[in-house]
Amino acid sequence: MKHALILGASGDIGTACARVLAAQGWSLYLHYFRNQDKISALQQQLIADYPTQEFFVIQADLNQAGASDKITKSLFNIDGVVVANGQTIYQLLTETTSHAMDDLWTSMLKNPVEICQQVQAKLSREHQGKIVFIGSVYGLQGSAMEVMYSTVKGAQHAFVKAYAQEVASLGITVNAVAPGAVATQMNTDWTAEEMQELLNEIPLNRMAKPEEIGAAVGFLMSKSANYITGTILPVTGGWKV
Ligand SMILES: NC(=O)c1ccc[n+]([C@@H]2O[C@H](COP(=O)([O-])OP(=O)(O)OC[C@H]3O[C@@H](n4cnc5c(N)ncnc54)[C@H](OP(=O)(O)O)[C@@H]3O)[C@@H](O)[C@H]2O)c1
Repeated sequence: MKHALILGASGDIGTACARVLAAQGWSLYLHYFRNQDKISALQQQLIADYPTQEFFVIQADLNQAGASDKITKSLFNIDGVVVANGQTIYQLLTETTSHAMDDLWTSMLKNPVEICQQVQAKLSREHQGKIVFIGSVYGLQGSAMEVMYSTVKGAQHAFVKAYAQEVASLGITVNAVAPGAVATQMNTDWTAEEMQELLNEIPLNRMAKPEEIGAAVGFLMSKSANYITGTILPVTGGWKV
């Protein structure tokens, strides 16, 4: 039985990834930070839908240094990792505190990278380990008011490209999905006017559904993608590509 860890499984994209991977037969370690109700409901639903698979819950604040150790100590077998946690701050770089920079870097890059380090031997055991980061179109193009977020997303993409080369001989593939605008909790603060301006810029004229990001992750985590590594896959409706 294959096991995958999903960081941020309580988020909208992470939950969509969990549903797709469970349907593909994966057993899952479902990580959350604050949203215990949502993760418990997801766990119960997955247990009911896929009774022969295993679904565990892990809580950790990824802003904290050392959260990687707390998470990997809870893992037994592990064949895949999906990094779907994230947060952003909307402000000018001149207003961004050192503490806020540390949080973005620690939660979206340092802890996930340390987790990759710590589980590498387990991922390579069957010579078919899979790692997928949820990056962002902002990591490709950048965005004003989200300079540090864009910087960390770009760093995630750079890590994927470099680490993919280092572990290819171990049978581990490392890829990222780079979403454009997705209809999730992260995007609930827009005014109607701002939303219309955004949609006018997107050739497909709508936001992605979380399941459309989950489908791309499911593909990259499947055997069908065994020959794909070091790739950043934009899923943006044609926006900014
Ligand atoms: N939505 C978009 O338009 C979009 C576009 C491009 C890329 N992305 C990326 O996609 C990923 C998922 O985003 P989403 O839209 O699904 O957002 P979301 O629904 O807000 O989910 C965010 C997830 O990150 C977790 N999280 C937040 N702060 C954390 C912390 N300090 N420690 C540990 N976990 C933490 C949340 O946990 P709790 O809920 O349990 O607290 C939740 O599971 C992020 O990396 C985001 O940057 C999103």
